[in-house]
Amino acid sequence: APPLPEGYAFRAVQKSDYTNGYIETLKVLTTTGDISEAQFHNLVQHWETHSHIYKARAITDASGKIVATGMLVVEKKLIHSCGSVGHIEDIAVAKDQQGKQLGRILIVSLTALARDAGCYKVILDCSEHNKPFYEKCGYKHESCAMVVRL
Ligand code: ACO
Repeated sequence: APPLPEGYAFRAVQKSDYTNGYIETLKVLTTTGDISEAQFHNLVQHWETHSHIYKARAITDASGKIVATGMLVVEKKLIHSCGSVGHIEDIAVAKDQQGKQLGRILIVSLTALARDAGCYKVILDCSEHNKPFYEKCGYKHESCAMVVRL
């Protein structure tokens, strides 16, 4: 992946990000609901307590505001000699920041985190529309996604 633009950074999501563009950025992906500051703090606390499993990450711009978000979940399994599988979830780049390679940098960075965590593969679900994006990030189509909505 190319380097981040000058002043941009890739870092863990923090409790102080409640008013820093994290929720707004996720709204380009789907609805978030009305999340209170207390709910947000509890959630980030949960991720931090289980930081070997939940790796919530963000890209910030030169002013420190969040402009891209993504989550890596590390699943420890029994199969493949107690292997770990990475799951990439909730990728979003702020509308006015799309097309600047931030999405690609995010995916490459989360994939590197998965490698560092010992994962033997990383999987994700995406729309047909986003398939070319993930292919440019080194992913390939395999299997099919199933869902039951509860
Ligand atoms: N179709 C074809 N090519 C694409 C698409 C697309 N939909 N999106 C990006 N690309 C290409 C770019 O043109 C670029 O190609 P190049 O390197 O040859 O110039 C390459 O992929 C990298 O693109 P980025 O600039 O890194 O993409 P961006 O920063 O805009 O992020 C993303 C892409 C994350 C899909 C963004 O558009 C977005 O947030 N969309 C709305 C939310 C969303 O759909 N998120 C993904 C859900 S799937 C999940 O979360 C696991």
